Amino acid sequence: MQKKPQLSFPKKFLWGAATSAHQVEGNTHNQWTVWEFENTIALATRASYHFEELENWPQIKLAAKDPSNYVSAKGADHYTRYAEDFDLLKNMQMNAFRFSIEWSRVEPQEGAWNVEAIEHYKQYVNALKRRNVEPIVTLFHFTLPVWFSEIGGFEKRRNVKYFTRFAEKIIRELGISVRYVVTINEPELYAIESYLGGHWPPNKTSKWTTWRMFNNLAYAHNQAARTIHAINRRYKVSIAKNSCYVYAGDNAVLSRFSAAVLQYIRDDYFLKKVVKQCDWLGVNYYFSDRVYGYRVHNPDKKLSDLGWDLSPENIQYALERLHEKYQLPIIITENGLADADDSQRQWWISQTLLAMHRAMKNGVKLEGYLHWSLLDNFEWDKGFWPRFGLISVDYTTKKRSLRPSAVWYGKIIKYLRENN
Ligand code: FCB
Repeated sequence: MQKKPQLSFPKKFLWGAATSAHQVEGNTHNQWTVWEFENTIALATRASYHFEELENWPQIKLAAKDPSNYVSAKGADHYTRYAEDFDLLKNMQMNAFRFSIEWSRVEPQEGAWNVEAIEHYKQYVNALKRRNVEPIVTLFHFTLPVWFSEIGGFEKRRNVKYFTRFAEKIIRELGISVRYVVTINEPELYAIESYLGGHWPPNKTSKWTTWRMFNNLAYAHNQAARTIHAINRRYKVSIAKNSCYVYAGDNAVLSRFSAAVLQYIRDDYFLKKVVKQCDWLGVNYYFSDRVYGYRVHNPDKKLSDLGWDLSPENIQYALERLHEKYQLPIIITENGLADADDSQRQWWISQTLLAMHRAMKNGVKLEGYLHWSLLDNFEWDKGFWPRFGLISVDYTTKKRSLRPSAVWYGKIIKYLRENN
């Protein structure tokens, strides 16, 4: 009989989940909310083109074709219901939580700090600390104050100073109640979706601007990290890197060559620019890409509700590769899937934990796992229908319920925290 693998994780391992402000807080006013109002009809109209082929189209059709799906509005209302959400988080035995500070709340006009919003986030962090939960704070997770985007956002290198000033303000205000800071979430994805693919605000499609964005975002991270470290070396700063494991599907020279080039462009080009200013590495992992020749052709045996290929086990190779190249401690800052009926989430998490464990055995210094997401949320240009939450949210009543996989995940965390 095959022996069951014995999982054991370090005592201080961070077990938790992640969110971002715009996706859960409700009632935000930033460049993305402005864009939502201008694009609801177009997004609703395009839904069939993007998702019609999916097996679950009959289930998602109604929501995906409804323009109101694309307006974040009050959403999960986490801004006022955070205490209830933190109780549920605690219920699942978590000891870490990643969230973002909504810059547009804190500095709604250039240079004018909103004292109430700052106080809110201080209380928010205190509410985590009281529950013995380690806060992991993100400073830029795709949303910007309207004034900042109107002066060109990160497209203009001279604007980076506003971001650095915001970073400094937040860190000084939160003081020693935080330690882990993510400056920028998925910088390359943001640059590509917003400036190359034209899918996200400001809907540009310029290779040149995208390249400039890569460089300016790297510069923004480095400047913010230096500023934060100048306040105190205690802060552990990183980016949250969207990491995809790219591999050749056959032994052909072209496949191996393309996979290596693709991997370099996706990961190393950016990481090389920021790694010196990272104390650890935040890794967001959702999928792998299998390359034949010069094309990506995934196994697609199992798909998420969004049609993403599900290969949770490959996170092992993503982690091992990043460890080998950069030798930094790693925290998985996002990992999860859209799974409305919760039929695959438990399987996904268990495969991921096994893969993490194998990676650690092979030397990866892994310090935490944060599932995306704590609760159902607003999935950017896809709106509300994709359900990523461990906790489901009824958007009419705002009622929260733990999905079965969340109950299971809670038991696993408890077991792993007690048996290390
Ligand atoms: C990541 C984003 C996060 C969420 C997940 C599904 O790329 O960082 O906000 O949308 O995808």
